[in-house]
Amino acid sequence: MRSRSRVLVADELKHFLQFIDVSSDVEIEFLAADDPVPEGDYVGLLPLLSRRIDEAVLDRLPQLRVVANYAVGYDNLDLGVLRARGVAASNTPDVLTEATADLTWALIMAASRRLGEAERRAREGEWRWHPTMLLGIDLRGRTLGLLGAGRIGRAVGKRAPPFGLKVAYWDRVAQPAFESAIGARRIEKLADLLAAADIVSIHVQLSSETAGLIGAAELGAMKDGAILINTARGGIVDEEALCAALESGKLRAAGLDVYENEPEIRDCLKRAPNLILLPHIGSATEGTRRSMFELAWSNLMRGIRGEPLLTPI
Ligand code: DGY
Repeated sequence: MRSRSRVLVADELKHFLQFIDVSSDVEIEFLAADDPVPEGDYVGLLPLLSRRIDEAVLDRLPQLRVVANYAVGYDNLDLGVLRARGVAASNTPDVLTEATADLTWALIMAASRRLGEAERRAREGEWRWHPTMLLGIDLRGRTLGLLGAGRIGRAVGKRAPPFGLKVAYWDRVAQPAFESAIGARRIEKLADLLAAADIVSIHVQLSSETAGLIGAAELGAMKDGAILINTARGGIVDEEALCAALESGKLRAAGLDVYENEPEIRDCLKRAPNLILLPHIGSATEGTRRSMFELAWSNLMRGIRGEPLLTPI
């Protein structure tokens, strides 16, 4: 009799099993969010982005062949250790690009038109139509500055022309097709991008190079009254410095979907009225979260069988 391959899958992903066929030679064990990874002969692991996969975890899983991360970002994986142990790793690119770009735009609109404050006022009945109540800014003629022009950054940029926004981007890699498609302009120095943009939207991966990329100096280099949007990873922005920039009025507003220590949100962020806070829902549509699972599952199955992964990291 063929032995069954044991895999560990994050408990929160149970819902999506209805969309796939689980082969009879695969045995799934669910991993609750707060439980440590158990020791065992598991050959595959499908974790959420909130679980750190490091040496201590891999020590408990000596037979592990693949980690299929349920996220496009993979800052939760220690890739050096995975490589050293010969464990393959994958993420979920492409399938969440459009949903994340849409949510980024929801934040751009919400921050520029003060939807958070407006919604609170409406609920609390604290309003009467007034010509200067809750004035936001017009987008037309302004510049959207993208920090990172990978898949999601470009998808955000492509949505800008109908709103009359010009697009500038900062990225190590030039994107000529993106430039000619929407007239986007590449700016080589980060400080120049920050000085040119009315709205700065972050779309770089969190890594040792980008941790704290936007600190007090960078916020200071932004235009007075600019808007900052972050749907990438919290650790890219110095949150205390952002609170100060919002408090002083240096920034008009900001929109965040991600935080340094999720699910904790710093008090000074919660207190800022001109800040839209979302609980990391960039990819949260039914179709996208299902597609992410299908892709992660396919990678998991390929990895445990020693086949090439669809979206290796
Ligand atoms: C990711 O995939 O990295 C997002 O943050 C969640 O979908």
